[in-house]
Amino acid sequence: MSGSRLFYILCLLCGILALSNCDQVKYPYGERIYLRQCADCHMDNAEGLSSLYPSLKTESIESLISEMPCIIRYGTQDSTELIKMLPMPKMSEVEIANVMNYIVQDLNGLNQEIKLTQVKEMIQNCTNKK
Ligand code: HEC
Repeated sequence: MSGSRLFYILCLLCGILALSNCDQVKYPYGERIYLRQCADCHMDNAEGLSSLYPSLKTESIESLISEMPCIIRYGTQDSTELIKMLPMPKMSEVEIANVMNYIVQDLNGLNQEIKLTQVKEMIQNCTNKK
């Protein structure tokens, strides 16, 4: 094989690798949690279902960040909506941080990392505890 052909093949391979990297999610663990624990209601693509299940792919995602840990842990029992979100008391803070980063960064394209310490702090200050 001539040198230039080898070079050409290498370039092609690198290109394919670079392209496939684009598809990769930053938080695969968060994605797994999302698909297992959230997608049933909020849908795989996070676009929700009519007015029953709110979309999590939304311009207001930033304003939802601070309430998300409390909503996941304690649900929305005090809301006036017909269908409320049930609490998920077994989901750990690490899992909450991962699923939040997947939603915020991978699904909504925001460049904002949610740290575990922030999640812990938010949970300590939840006002919807039962
Ligand atoms: C069994 C269905 C169900 C599952 C599973 C579920 N949710 Fe929800 N979620 C809802 C419903 C219904 C609401 C609206 C509740 C309300 O407003 O009282 C909601 C509301 C929310 C909200 C607030 C949205 C807004 O615009 O105010 C967030 C954030 C959210 N869910 C995140 C999650 C995450 C993250 C998961 C997975 C860890 C999850 N949900 C799993 C049903 C579900």
